[in-house]
Amino acid sequence: MERAEQVAQIKLLMSRLDAGMNVDAGGFRRNPTNVYADPDLAEREWQTFFRGHPHLVGLTGDLPEPGSFLTCEHLPTPVLATRDDDGRFRAFVNACRHRGVVVEERNRGEARRFTCPFHHWTYDTEGTLVGLPNPEHFGNPDPSCLGLIELPAVEDAGLLWVHPDPDGAIDLDEQLGHDLRAELASWHLDELSYLGWDDYDVACNWKLAMDTFGETYHFPALHSQTLNLGFHGNVQCYDTHGRNHRMLLCKRDIDGLRDLPEDDWEITTAALPVYWLFPNVQLMPFAQGLHLVRAYPDPRDPGRHVSRITWYLRPEPAADTETRKALEMISQRFGEIIRDEDYVVSASQQRTASAGVLDHVVFGRNEPALHHYHETYRRMLGMDPLPLLDELGFVPEIS
Ligand code: FES
Ligand SMILES: [Fe+2]
Repeated sequence: MERAEQVAQIKLLMSRLDAGMNVDAGGFRRNPTNVYADPDLAEREWQTFFRGHPHLVGLTGDLPEPGSFLTCEHLPTPVLATRDDDGRFRAFVNACRHRGVVVEERNRGEARRFTCPFHHWTYDTEGTLVGLPNPEHFGNPDPSCLGLIELPAVEDAGLLWVHPDPDGAIDLDEQLGHDLRAELASWHLDELSYLGWDDYDVACNWKLAMDTFGETYHFPALHSQTLNLGFHGNVQCYDTHGRNHRMLLCKRDIDGLRDLPEDDWEITTAALPVYWLFPNVQLMPFAQGLHLVRAYPDPRDPGRHVSRITWYLRPEPAADTETRKALEMISQRFGEIIRDEDYVVSASQQRTASAGVLDHVVFGRNEPALHHYHETYRRMLGMDPLPLLDELGFVPEIS
């Protein structure tokens, strides 16, 4: 983030703290609860946002050298991503061209050859079929015709993008916009190294998992003994970038900046930036690394999803064993808070949504990210917008 932008955003956070104000969405919205439970909508989301949309499968540091690979089994297309012998990022459908077995089951690792367990057809890092037993029984096939099916793949500013459709296109200017691309690049994400990961299989719709990142109004209540100790709740900065947005969650360390010259202000001291990249990514850079959360629907059940959480480190802390160990523990703890606090209420929200006991829930004026996210996905699916309301229209009870 540019220096001038950092200072401007820190001043805005301070002024909101001083005034006891939060960012204002300009009104309320009622969000129908069936968006979390409707199987037809879930199918449309799966086709439009997951099969028909580029996805972030990792960071440059996930594939640190030629021969590194990772897989993603949560997208409609099982993906095998590699760094080939020339150092180029590649992605393939992780399905053997013989009889369709998933070729590489491991989550990540180093390999120059990928051998299918069924009959040992073998592929290299460029997806080329480089060996098969008894080729004469298959007419000595031209290996170039039976390579893994390649997927569109782009490595940009440290981010690894894959389109799950072999005929799909990746246009990051269209998807992120020039300004957001530039800001993401300013974090030098290509310098980060992989630290660890976890998957959380949660009984809630993937959008409920995303929603929990959309405001800090809940910090003093739900996170009273955890995140609230480090953050001022219910105050943030918020900006949209097309279908994406950026939130700046206000850290309590901002208070110490008031006595320092502006030249010494760092946004990572004052705030945790949260980039919500449509449709399913929360990207959170901090001074020593990055937390990345991606939520994937269960295509068979709108009431389930898997969140994949991965952690990364900047070069300096990565080089020091003790610091690395400490940051690993902090990152795991951060994930546990999401799992054991946020996702517990997300699953609770799912129970009432699935039961159909409420027609709608409410997005407050202090929850603009929820307004924007839900309006965005509705627009992309051709659904009616949710009206912005001046008042909720509750009828007061008369005793
Ligand atoms: S299915 Fe892969 S080698 Fe036969
Ligand atoms: Fe939370």
